[in-house]
Amino acid sequence: MSQKTQRVIDLGVNVDHVATLRQARGTDYPDPVECAIIAENAGADSITIHLREDRRHIQDCDLARMQESVNTRVNLEMAVTEEMIQIALATQPADCCLVPEKREELTTEGGLNILNQTQKVKNAVLRLQEAGIRVSLFIDPDLDQLDAAVESGVSVVELHTGTYADSKQHNDVTREFKRIQRAADFGRNLGLTIHAGHGLNYHNVKPIASLIPIVELNIGHSIISRALFVGMQKAVSTMKELMQEGRGA
Ligand code: PXP
Repeated sequence: MSQKTQRVIDLGVNVDHVATLRQARGTDYPDPVECAIIAENAGADSITIHLREDRRHIQDCDLARMQESVNTRVNLEMAVTEEMIQIALATQPADCCLVPEKREELTTEGGLNILNQTQKVKNAVLRLQEAGIRVSLFIDPDLDQLDAAVESGVSVVELHTGTYADSKQHNDVTREFKRIQRAADFGRNLGLTIHAGHGLNYHNVKPIASLIPIVELNIGHSIISRALFVGMQKAVSTMKELMQEGRGA
């Protein structure tokens, strides 16, 4: 990998929470598609949306409209269910990220456990890849999950940074950071493309962005929250600046 390539780190902006605000009142605003376009103009390298089974924020029509409007890449987060696979095959986003989903959770709480559903994951990956979709698996930063990810046939994994982000004590933060660092190195040596995300914000993003094997971060809640006060353009560009600083670029 060239020195220049190593310095590049992409930002995928998750716009789910714009739809959360819209759904809270059943209005047709604010529009996650409009937000996605502003995010792209501010430097986002892809747009992530999670079409949840309970449709609590993003709706099916948002996915179709995103596909028409986004100039970068649409990354569809989805549960490994027949319904979601059919939707992905019909709409053909550039990327799909397979995530675990529980109806009662506030957000995606843990990584996908590939070990206890290897065949199911493998089948889903194959069907999506055959349609030309790049597939990633959202997994905890554990070495056995990375081995299983390779076994499932994916080329990309997204490492769950939630435990790192939630850690308060210095020792816990250090331990979780090292866990992500080790998993990122291990995954890259297996030939995987490494992404990371969940719970990343303006205070904790730089150390994660400094990890050279990680080439993309997916960030939602902190960016949309900051956008309430400074606007989406500034919220995205500031996050990108911090990522570049973390990278030493
Ligand atoms: N990556 C994945 C797979 C996720 O499920 C989420 C949350 O939807 C994110 C990244 C973004 O997390 P956050 O909103 O905490 O930045």
